[in-house]
This record gives sequence, structure tokens and C-alpha cells, in this order.
Amino acid sequence: MTNTATQIRPPEAQTGQDEFAQAVLDGLQSTPKAIPSKFFYDTKGSHLFEQICELEEYYPTRVELGILEAHAPDIAAIAGPDTTLVEFGSGAGVKVRLLLDALDAPRAYVPIDISRDHLLASSAQLNADYPDLSILPVHADFATPFDMPRMASSNVVGFFPGSTIGNLTAGEAEDFLHSAAETLGKGAGMVIGVDLIKDRDVLRAAYDDRKGVTAAFNLNLLERINRDLNGTFDLSHFTHKALFNETESRIEMHIEATQAQTVTVAGRPISFEKGERIHTENSHKYTVPGFSALAGRAGWSLRAVWTDENDWFAVLYLQRLDG
Ligand SMILES: C[S@@+](CC[C@H](N)C(=O)[O-])C[C@H]1O[C@@H](n2cnc3c(N)ncnc32)[C@H](O)[C@@H]1O
Repeated sequence: MTNTATQIRPPEAQTGQDEFAQAVLDGLQSTPKAIPSKFFYDTKGSHLFEQICELEEYYPTRVELGILEAHAPDIAAIAGPDTTLVEFGSGAGVKVRLLLDALDAPRAYVPIDISRDHLLASSAQLNADYPDLSILPVHADFATPFDMPRMASSNVVGFFPGSTIGNLTAGEAEDFLHSAAETLGKGAGMVIGVDLIKDRDVLRAAYDDRKGVTAAFNLNLLERINRDLNGTFDLSHFTHKALFNETESRIEMHIEATQAQTVTVAGRPISFEKGERIHTENSHKYTVPGFSALAGRAGWSLRAVWTDENDWFAVLYLQRLDG
């Protein structure tokens, strides 16, 4: 089946302004303050993330692309012909091209993303570049139940690159993998990118680059609140913080108040002490055995694993245990 760009109109997801307002108000009125990282990705946030992917310090994109380039034929050999590829958090749709080029007659591509404009733009671009492929974008939060398009192919493979799984806690990652097994169906495979534990300085630099792009990405959340929720954040009174939490084996990103202040959000006053933080993102780092044990608890077995020469990043091929 061939798509035209005008057919690429995914239905509106339930992730609207009300959900954003509720999450921000709940998060800013909790102790400690926290806002889920999925709200980074408005249109500006999605573009800033693409700039992060180009940074020298941000090794995950470069290293994962290298692994995919080297092993796309191995992945394609396991996946087999006539595959429907379902990508969770598809972003700019760059990495999937390596798989689409290697797969034997892929049937369809289902990109799922919370960032609607970005999803539409990358789907239209892929549609132009792969005119014989059926492209079925889904605007949804992949961590909550959502409607999938009917998939004609029985050979379904999930794709979850970018170490996005690391943004979830271990419990959330297990729940996600459980529901992804349901979504993809019996016999499904899953290609997943996982960032590995490594030198702490390398990790910290990846989330606190010299050009300040990650800081802009983090602080854009306050701009989004100002714009969408009538917020009064003065961005010059807040700063970006990235730290490695050894107990949880994760990088954490926070926004820290540089002075005591009160702002309003949707008409509600929110007070900050000097040095108080909003926790905005986790990026969990795994070992291959640790992650494959987690996947095993969620109904997946490890079929293959590829890493780079430094063991900084792993791409795993998981197989649904009943398939
Ligand atoms: C870390 S980026 C990875 C992008 C791309 N897959 C890559 O590997 O470069 C995370 C992507 O997932 C999307 N995303 C984050 N949380 C999401 C959620 N809960 N549901 C759907 N998409 C989400 C973001 O909009 C963004 O495109």
C-alpha cells in the first residue's frame, strides 16, 4: 500500500493541555517537586533534542547509530520478510531508516510519539523517501493504553531506540515491556537500545554539554509552562543540573532555583526556596544481564545483543516468550 502525505493525520491523543496542567500542578505542589520527562517534547523541545543528538558529548546517538549500521543485516535476518515495524518514541525517524533499508520487503511502519507536529513532519518525510511503505503514525503516550492501527502483517517487530526506556523507572520499564508484548502480539520481536553503566564523567558530560543545549532543553519545560499554563517563571532565576545517582544507577536532570521566589502557574502560587529543585528526567543505566533479567520478567527473552567496542551502549533483540 502507498501512502500520500495528506493521509498522514493520526487521531488526536488524549495527551492534551488538561493532562499537562494536572501533571504540572501536581508535580509542583509535591515534595520534592517533579514533572514527567515526556512533557519536554513540545515542538521546540523536539528540535532541541535533535540538536542534543549532534553534540560531541552526547555519545548515545552516535554509538547506537554505529551499532545499528554494523548490525542492521543481522537484525533484518532475525526479523525476516514482510515485517511491520512499530517504533515507540519515534522522534525524527532517523535510526529506523537503517532497519528499513536492511529489511526484506518491509510491509509497514508505525511510528508512535507524543510530539504531534514532529511526528507528522517525520512521517511525511519518510513517506516521501519510502513511497512503497505503508506509514501509519500514532500520536499517543506509549506508557498508557492507546489504539493501534490494524496490522496486516503477522510479522511484527517493535523498535525502541535512543535509550528512551532508561527514562522509565525499572518498575515502569517492566510494565511498559509487558504492555508492548500485548500491543505487538504473539510471536513479536523487539529491537531495543539500552545505555550501559560507564565512567561517571562521560555520563555527566552527556547531560551537561559545554554549549548548553541540554540546559536549554531542560529549561524549555518552564517556557512551555509559561506559554501553555500562564506561568510566570523567570528563566534567569533557574539553572540546569545533571547528576549521577549511584543508588539508582541513573542520571537525573533537575531545574534548580537560584533564589527564593514565588511564581504562579494557572493562577496558583508556587513557592521555591533557594536551591530547591524540580526533578525533570531520569536516564537509567543498565548492564546487559541486568536489563535482560528485567525483560525476562516482562515476558521477553534475549535473542541477540550487539554492543560497541567500549561497551557503552547495547542493542538487544528480544523475542516474546510465547513466540
Ligand atoms: C530520547 S528521544 C528518542 C528519539 C529517537 N527514538 C531516537 O532514538 O533518537 C524520546 C522520544 O520519545 C518521545 N516520547 C517521550 N516520552 C513519550 C511517551 N510517553 N509516549 C510517546 N512518545 C514519547 C519523544 O517525543 C521523543 O521523540
